[in-house]
Formats: sequence, C-alpha cells, structure tokens
Amino acid sequence: MNSSDNALLTIEGKTYSLPIVHGTEGERAIDISKLLQETGCTTLDLGYKNTASCTSRITFLNGNKGILSYRGYGIEELAEKCLFIEVAYLLVHGHLPTATEYDHFRNLLNRFSLIHEDMIHFFDHFPPSAPPMAILSVMVNSLCSYYPEMNDDLTTDIDLTAARLISKIRTIAAFSYKKSLGKPLIYPRPELPYCANFLNMMFDNPVEPYTVRPEAVAALNKLLILHADHEQNCSTATVRLVGSAGVNLYASIAAGINALWGPLHGGANEAVIAMLEAIHQDGGNFQKYIDKAKDKSDAFKLSGFGHRVYKTFDPRGKIIKNACDELLAVLNVHDPLLEIALRLEEVALKDAYFIERNLFPNVDFYSGIIYRALGIPTNMFTVMFALGRLPGWIAQWKEQQEDPRSKIGRPRQVYMGEPARPFVPMSER
Ligand code: CMC
Repeated sequence: MNSSDNALLTIEGKTYSLPIVHGTEGERAIDISKLLQETGCTTLDLGYKNTASCTSRITFLNGNKGILSYRGYGIEELAEKCLFIEVAYLLVHGHLPTATEYDHFRNLLNRFSLIHEDMIHFFDHFPPSAPPMAILSVMVNSLCSYYPEMNDDLTTDIDLTAARLISKIRTIAAFSYKKSLGKPLIYPRPELPYCANFLNMMFDNPVEPYTVRPEAVAALNKLLILHADHEQNCSTATVRLVGSAGVNLYASIAAGINALWGPLHGGANEAVIAMLEAIHQDGGNFQKYIDKAKDKSDAFKLSGFGHRVYKTFDPRGKIIKNACDELLAVLNVHDPLLEIALRLEEVALKDAYFIERNLFPNVDFYSGIIYRALGIPTNMFTVMFALGRLPGWIAQWKEQQEDPRSKIGRPRQVYMGEPARPFVPMSER
C-alpha cells in the first residue's frame, strides 16, 4: 500500500494502482472493480472470506474487538433500552423513531397483523412433520400474490411492505405452530405489544388462557434485537443477491429464510440443543463431543461455537448468556442442558484446539436454552431467528434497491474442468 491511498499490484512485471476505500470505522477495502478490465485477472476468494460485496450504512461489526452496532448504536445499549420494533424501525429507516413515528409504526403493525384468510388453508396441506422453516419460506413467498404492488415497481410502498412483513411473519410463525399441533388459531390482539402478542398467539388457548409474563416478553425482546441484523452474513447476502436480480421483497426474504435454515447458519440454534440432548443422553460425556469436534476425520463440529467474523468473542453471546441466567432464575427453571452447556464451554475454552482457532460460543449457543424456557419447541428455533433477522434483511434489501450504483450480483469463477476437446459421437464413446 503506498501513501497516496492506493494499493499497488504487480502482475507479470506490470504494476497497477488500485484505490483504497475507507469505511467510517477505519475499515479499508481495495477496490478491485476495474481489476478484470485492466489486468485480465479476477480474484479467487472461497467463501468470500475477504470480499466486501457492497458498502452499507446499516450495521458495523468488528470481529477482533467484539463490537456490533446498528446504525451507530451499540448492541448492548439497544438490547438493554429498546423494544424490538424500535430497533426494527431504526434498521429500516436509519434513525430511532420519535414518539409519533413509533405510534404510527405500531398502528401499521396492528393493521397488518392478519393474513388473508385463504392463506390459512395453506397450512392444511403440509404434512404434520413439515419443517417450520419450509412453511415459513413458502408463506412469505406467497405474500407477493396477495400484495402484488411490488411486482411492477420494487420501490413502491417499500415502507408499508416492510411493516406488513414484520407484522405478518409473526402471525405466520404462530399460526404454523398452532396448526402443527392441531390447535385453534389465536389471532393477534391489537392491545398487546409485538413480543407479548407473539407469545400469546403461540401459547394462548380457548380452554387454558395464557398469562404473558413480563420476564418472558423481556427475554424474547432482547433475543430478537440481538438477531436483528449482522451485516453480510449468508442469509443477508442471499437476500441482496436475489434482490439484485430485481425480485420483489417477499421473494427475496423467502430466499433469505432458506439460507438461514442451514445448520452452519441460523439452524445452529436447533443443532446446539440436539447436541446438548445427545450429550445428556450419553451420561453428560461432553469430552467425547469435544474430541469428535477436534477429530479431522469426523465431520462433527461443536454447534454454537466459532464464527466467521468474531475472533475474540461474540458480543451477542455474552448478552444472551446473561439473559439466559436471569430468565431461568426468575422462572425457576432448572434445565440440565444449561449445566452441560456451561461445562462444555468451560472445557472447550481451555482446550488448545479451540484457543488456537479462536473458537468460542456464538449467538446460537445459549439462545436455544432461553427459547426452551419460553416453551418454544426446538423445531421453531430457527423460525425465531428469522423473526428477529427480518428487519435487517428488509433494511439491507431496501438499501440495495435505493443505491443507484447497485448491480446484479454475479460472482466469477476459475474454471478447472476439461480443456476444450472434440465432440465424440455416441457410437465412438
Ligand atoms: N467445532 C470444531 N471446529 C471448528 C468449529 C466448531 N464449531 N468451527 C470452526 N472449526 C475449525 C475448522 O474445522 C477449522 O479448522 P482448521 O483450521 O484446522 O481447518 C477452523 O476452526 C476455522 O474454521 P472455518 O470452518 O474455516 O471457519 P468459517 O469461518 O468458514 O466457519 C462457522 C464459521 C460458524 C461456519 C464455523 O465456525 C462452524 O461451522 N460453527 C458451527 C456452526 C455454528 O455454530 N454456526 C452458527 C454461526 S453464528 C450465527 C449465524 O451465523 O447464524
């Protein structure tokens, strides 16, 4: 790098000067947008470990210092002082809502909280064992048939569509749970705030009324805030990539939901509980699982450990661990899986394998224990992640659509297949 803020690249004796782009928090990126044109070379970056696919004003994270902020506000303060829908508003609109803006947003969320009654029949046609993430992506994708405004012009009513989605995803998630149990649907209640309304739709029952506990609401509120955005992770990058082709918001979000489903991404919260349950049934033999995770001939990884970006600690993991302790104490829940998780963490953090690779608990390690304490079934955990991540996906999609420099996403490849060869007729093969 030279002093004039350019990077110098030499290929076969010829030197090229590449501009360096500076982020507002000191990040530096070498702008290679003219690289192919000027040098004839592309870059190869498996898993995009070094590639920034966009500039963004939404979320900042510093993996070495364990910093995460939305629109400049630290995650710790937002999780402590805000309601999830305030944070959703912040992400989508770029500023914290004033009292008037908040009331307006709340009213929209209430107004949009029902789904078209015909959509309720969709649930009847899934087999009882259908994965809730499959149902969620189908239902969200289907919304574009009921609200087709965006099909012609992607930026039409984007803010209304954002509110519509944030409200309806909650109803879809709760209805899909009720349907999976064969229980009557509980409709949203306008007087209940977002998180309390969701818990009520999940757990109320005409013959056994549910009391929404403020501690449960507070824990859910915190979890959703902590999941609300995480810059260009796999699902968000998917939402942007799909959106870059000119696809409407509902379909782009449905694609993001499918990406989130994977056990290396949002699906890790389910995988953690499955792992802890397996250890529990194995008599608490967590060392066996640590050894398996270290064994390179075994594909097993410690779920809820490690992160692509965080290399010191995951700030969300810290907050969630504290929230977990608080909630279990106040609800007087003694979850044997928490004991195993604590022991597993303690042992792994002292193990050279995990130390050398900077592997420590991520956001998914303790979130499942909180969801269990709230009564949410394991197969709904990733749906909960999607509920939280939705405002981030919307904000990122909106930012991309509104950026005049935005282009269709289209990575390159380095072809390693057969070189050109003559065609062989079938009779000669
Ligand atoms: N258990 C055992 N070894 C691990 C783990 C783990 N959980 N995570 C990474 N490693 C090892 C990996 O085998 C590699 O070892 P080596 O250098 O000897 O080949 C090294 O650590 C670096 O890992 P990587 O796979 O190159 O790192 P990555 O940035 O490509 O992957 C990750 C990040 C999160 C996919 C990975 O750490 C992982 O699979 N973790 C378990 C799944 C998980 O908890 N996912 C949730 C992530 S946070 C929330 C979210 O994004 O949704």
